Amino acid sequence: MKLFVALLAVGLPALAAAHSWIVCTDYLENNGWYWDEAKCRAWPRSAHRHDIRFGPFGQHRGFLNKLDNHPEETALCTHPRNDDTEYTDLTPMAAYYLGQKVVLTHPANNHVADVRCKNNTNIVDTENIIFSVDQAEPQDPCCIDSEKLLVVEDLGISPYGPNIDPVITITYPKPGFQNVPKFCEDEANSMGTYNFTIPMDMKPGRHTFVWKWIRSPRVSPFTTCWEADVFATKAERDAHYQSTGQTIVDVWDFYQINTIVNGEIVDPIDPVDPIISG
Ligand SMILES: *[C@@H]1O[C@H](CO)[C@@H](O)[C@H](O)[C@H]1NC(C)=O
Ligand SMILES: *[C@@H]1O[C@H](CO)[C@@H](O)[C@H](O)[C@H]1NC(C)=O
Repeated sequence: MKLFVALLAVGLPALAAAHSWIVCTDYLENNGWYWDEAKCRAWPRSAHRHDIRFGPFGQHRGFLNKLDNHPEETALCTHPRNDDTEYTDLTPMAAYYLGQKVVLTHPANNHVADVRCKNNTNIVDTENIIFSVDQAEPQDPCCIDSEKLLVVEDLGISPYGPNIDPVITITYPKPGFQNVPKFCEDEANSMGTYNFTIPMDMKPGRHTFVWKWIRSPRVSPFTTCWEADVFATKAERDAHYQSTGQTIVDVWDFYQINTIVNGEIVDPIDPVDPIISG
């Protein structure tokens, strides 16, 4: 019995760590090292139902989406779309503008090749894609193969393989899932970032966005869904965020504002002190 309990205790966190999800849908810092909740302006659909904002980064309450071969049973999004109930004052919806670079964050959940802590360069990364849903559609598409999902950006994949130069695994930024520079400090809960650009020809208005991650071809895709109001201009986006008490600062890049010497930040600066409502 004791052994059984011990196995359970070890097994459960391992299960919980087997997946990933988008935590923030409008993060202010690209390629950053550490999660800072104050830099997050907007949250995915139903974030409040999973404690994504107020729980520790890399943790959540309840199950988050992994698809399987039964789209009629496993929906594309964890919760059905309902813009009135799936966003709250403390977990608001994103606002973007055409041409904007958007930064997303996700927990590493152990799936990073970085030889400083893992003697394995062969941690697979298979597909990272951002889709949008035709805005005429009030309903979520049935499934990940739906023609209603339009590719906004293919985020590439992280380099991996049994024979790659180990230096590649410790070189950041990286494309794909494994852009997690502080992975070795916390293999489960360290922060990864992605960036994608809102296409100039996207129709302004409210859109649903979908992140799809295939880690290994043997594992079904993981998805996160969120809504965002897309504005034609930054001025309109700024007016929107001002009306909700959010900062209107633009995304910055960690490596552009920090000088790194021997892996340490020299002269750290914070370009803004973001004032976020709530
Ligand atoms: C790393 O893995 C290789 C291949 O499995 C092995 O030969 C080597 O001894 C390992 N190095 C360390 C430091 O564990
Ligand atoms: C933004 O993301 C793209 C696609 O993953 C990547 O190629 C590019 O290097 C990233 N830009 C920066 C500044 O990190």
